[in-house]
Amino acid sequence: MMSQPVLALKDLRTVFHTARGSFTAVDGVNLELRQGEVLGLVGESGSGKSVTLRSILRLVRPPGGVSGEVLWQGRNLLALSEPQMRRVRGGEISMIFQEPMTALNPVLPIGEQIVETLREHTELSGKALRDRAVELLELVGIPSPKERLRGYPHQFSGGMRQRAMIAIALASNPKLLLADEPTTALDVTIQDQILKLLLRLKDTLGMSVILVTHDLGVVAQTCERVAVMYAGRIVEVAPAAELFAQPRHAYTLGLLNSVPGAERTRRPLLPIPGAPPDLAALPLGCPFAPRCTFTTPECTAARPPLVVISSTRLAAEPPSPVETPARLTACIHHDKLTKAGEVAR
Ligand SMILES: Nc1ncnc2c1ncn2[C@@H]1O[C@H](COP(=O)(O)OP(=O)(O)OP(=O)(O)O)[C@@H](O)[C@H]1O
Ligand SMILES: [Mg+2]
Repeated sequence: MMSQPVLALKDLRTVFHTARGSFTAVDGVNLELRQGEVLGLVGESGSGKSVTLRSILRLVRPPGGVSGEVLWQGRNLLALSEPQMRRVRGGEISMIFQEPMTALNPVLPIGEQIVETLREHTELSGKALRDRAVELLELVGIPSPKERLRGYPHQFSGGMRQRAMIAIALASNPKLLLADEPTTALDVTIQDQILKLLLRLKDTLGMSVILVTHDLGVVAQTCERVAVMYAGRIVEVAPAAELFAQPRHAYTLGLLNSVPGAERTRRPLLPIPGAPPDLAALPLGCPFAPRCTFTTPECTAARPPLVVISSTRLAAEPPSPVETPARLTACIHHDKLTKAGEVAR
């Protein structure tokens, strides 16, 4: 039996209106997340990962419009009033932003910013606030946390700022963490430490996580399932191990192949040949078709929908008492894809 999803995105769509015209950055995303699950969200730059996370928390400013449904524990966040939304944001749901500087208040000491979150979203008061703030800085590996509380964001290095932001995001004991490239500015040791911390919190708090990352090594280490985005759309969803063993979308195959050699973990993704899609002028059919080596006329005739395909249980894997999550793909040639590394380029 699979548990009910805590979060369900239904036909989530985010449109931006710019001087160049309108374009759809998030294009009908459907996605579910279960309690305590870590879902990786991957895809090349501009595919809509950050906008998806910002849309969940309604942080897309006009002239951007978000439609569809964001069902959080059964409530549609897109239908809440702004005061109701403020209680959810930074409380039940926290976000670690891709650019720490835009998320931190430059004129407030880090300690104050943590205490503010604690005051707003927890029962703590008085001295307990400061003690907890110190504890949080310690948790994310900031040395001399007591002294650091008085520091301003500009006095922190990039890596320290990222850690401070993680501390703020975790201060409210969120039930859902939206983590946008949370460890990119950190060296490998600290990155490991932060990822282990997130996994621990997921277990102790039952926290669910959507983790946006460029690093497939981080995905392998941290995520149970992966969703792959391309041109604002989810093109493949699979349990992480299955995705690595046998991608079922030509774009995912390209992603895996773009990381050279056997040690494809711990390496940044290399670009896939061909130009990234222009969101303002997407082709009629599969948006990846112009760059894909498997393209047939069928691919360009109409947009392939995201459909369920049977789960490819790994041979070495014992039968699981829980239902294997479904695999989804929007590639009509999913059964023709050979394993990563074996395809002719
Ligand atoms: N406020 C905005 N106004 C107009 N366009 C925007 C805005 N925010 C994002 N975009 C555009 O939406 C698209 C998706 O951007 P997004 O930031 O979600 O990409 P991403 O997948 O997070 O990329 P990266 O890996 O580089 O972080 C891009 O074309 C981006 O330029
Ligand atoms: Mg981003």
